[in-house]
Amino acid sequence: MAEDIRKIPILIPLLGDEEAQAAAEAVKSGWVTQGPRVAAFEQAFAAKVGAAYAVATSSCTTALHLALQAAGVEPGQVVLTVSHSFIATANAVRYLGAEPVFVDIDPVTYNMDPEQLALVLERDFQRNGDGLYYRNVQRLTCGESPFARIKEPQGRLGAILAVHQVGVPADLARILPLADQAGVPVVEDAAPAVGCQLSLDGGHTWEMVGRSHGLAACFSFHPRKLLTTGDGGMVTTNDPEVDRACRLLRQHGMSVPDLTRHQAGKVIMEQYLTTGYNYRLTDIQAAVGLEQLKRLDYMVERRRELASIYLRELKDVPGLNLPAEPAYGRNTWQSFVVWLDDASHRLPAMEALLAQGISSRQGIMNAHAEPPYRLAWPKGSLPQSEKVSQGGIVLPLYPQMAEDDCLYVCRHLRRILG
Ligand SMILES: Cc1ncc(COP(=O)(O)O)c(C=O)c1O
Repeated sequence: MAEDIRKIPILIPLLGDEEAQAAAEAVKSGWVTQGPRVAAFEQAFAAKVGAAYAVATSSCTTALHLALQAAGVEPGQVVLTVSHSFIATANAVRYLGAEPVFVDIDPVTYNMDPEQLALVLERDFQRNGDGLYYRNVQRLTCGESPFARIKEPQGRLGAILAVHQVGVPADLARILPLADQAGVPVVEDAAPAVGCQLSLDGGHTWEMVGRSHGLAACFSFHPRKLLTTGDGGMVTTNDPEVDRACRLLRQHGMSVPDLTRHQAGKVIMEQYLTTGYNYRLTDIQAAVGLEQLKRLDYMVERRRELASIYLRELKDVPGLNLPAEPAYGRNTWQSFVVWLDDASHRLPAMEALLAQGISSRQGIMNAHAEPPYRLAWPKGSLPQSEKVSQGGIVLPLYPQMAEDDCLYVCRHLRRILG
């Protein structure tokens, strides 16, 4: 007998009555912009990841902008990062008048390959007095690059921006020493990595991503991530100066935040100390975030259970490559991304899945394949990133997904690719 066709979405955010009620209470309180609930969310988030400070923002993109600025990235500098990421990673560098220099990835973890990083530092940079300088600034001076508008871009290395892609931690134990040698800070793009854990000592001790292994880590609360506030972000850090800078910049450079002024019981005349932005999270979003935080451990555990089914059932499918959990990391599997050896099979496979009611999405993009970056980075520049992106497929994964639905996806994918 033919099997019934099911309807399996790519994801369903885990939101319930608790979030709805918390949002309603925030509305009824009359304080709807950044206020007491944002402060409470920051505190709870910092405690969860084990960081000294957390600064809520309107998104991860804005968090990255603030963290890179607080890290001292300046116009005319370059930042080493990956192309194999959502385009916001690269764009945030450009917001500062700096330019990303892309490092290729490890095709198993989808993250920056530390060996490639070492190679690029050695081959493409030269030490000049106080810093490392990119040898080929001319290459970057084209198209929409801010370098095309800067008179003499220096190409000095300002930071390394490491991404913890799709909930698989980056290999910071190997990246941090390289950054130290280069004399630059590491900023972590932890957009998809809420709930991930990392070991810097070969698996003896484990810490949450965001504990601030680098100078700062930036998270996203977009609905495609585990914990959602609709949109939203967070910078975590152990550095009081980074915390202070991010707080100031996210709210127009205002010397005294509204909440402090409100609670002061005396007249306070605020000043605007620097050119800041409006990157605030609202109290309505923070109220939702506080409830979401309570669900985080369950979301991680459930995703890990379902991912283990995918890993078990899809191993040994010819032409299909699976992600892996690195020895130094505990994945949350924010997305379960597989990739096909033969990229020409991807679209037919996704269509065949859809015919069985199974939603899928194309895998992780490459910024350098898109118009704003491809002039400086023609096809073939980053072979591993290109291979994984072109053949990449995101499979459905969300905590409410039934194990039997996971098996249904595996059965059909095996058949389609078999
Ligand atoms: C790696 C990475 N960085 C940054 C972002 C941007 O996050 P947001 O949508 O919160 O600005 C995303 C979003 O998908 C992401 O995956």
